[in-house]
Amino acid sequence: MNSCSSFSFFLVLLLIITITFAKLSEAACKGPGTYDHWIFFTTPLIAPNGSATDFASALPGTRWPYSGNFYDAPDATAAKALGYDTDLCTYLSADAPQMWQCTGTYIDSFGCSGYLTFSGFFNISAASGVFTVLGGTGDFVGAAGHITDVAKDEGWFLRTLVWKQVDSTAVATSTSTSVATVVTLSAIATWLI
Ligand SMILES: *[C@@H]1O[C@H](CO)[C@@H](O)[C@H](O)[C@H]1NC(C)=O
Ligand SMILES: *[C@@H]1O[C@H](CO)[C@@H](O)[C@H](O)[C@H]1NC(C)=O
Repeated sequence: MNSCSSFSFFLVLLLIITITFAKLSEAACKGPGTYDHWIFFTTPLIAPNGSATDFASALPGTRWPYSGNFYDAPDATAAKALGYDTDLCTYLSADAPQMWQCTGTYIDSFGCSGYLTFSGFFNISAASGVFTVLGGTGDFVGAAGHITDVAKDEGWFLRTLVWKQVDSTAVATSTSTSVATVVTLSAIATWLI
């Protein structure tokens, strides 16, 4: 290799390294924190008999489903998708018309991989809800916290995920306790045999 071609080789290598780092930092999962995101609800409600309905004529058992992306701004054409949500709210009782019980899962969201599952209730009169983060898989193992959900203009809802992490020492302790139990039990079993 002459000095000129080794120099261009070096430049190409530098370019590849720079692009790789840029891609990695773009996709990187930042972990626990506060994440604002926007959801647009287009799906009609599903009446208990399976036909389409709306909020005004909802009967107990009416479902309000969503499956699709959520975004960094209330504009699906210009906004960037931050993740994917599957969730379902169910209208429980005519005696408590505000209350819709909701449960959902975020899939590979906020640059992280894995599922984040939540449950809570949406108050139609207040046009807002609060959901408890139940836990998750992958990058979301040990996730706790909550999601607030506030209806804004024209079908857009602003959600804020406050992602906390359960005490990892508590998890480690319970794991080592169960490992110790298994070791003890197998020692006893060996002795008995
Ligand atoms: C389903 O129930 C709604 C009332 O919620 C009623 O208006 C509609 O006719 C029913 N549809 C069928 C197919 O039974
Ligand atoms: C739902 O919101 C309405 C209006 O803000 C409020 O009066 C009501 O108490 C709320 N219901 C529950 C169960 O929190």
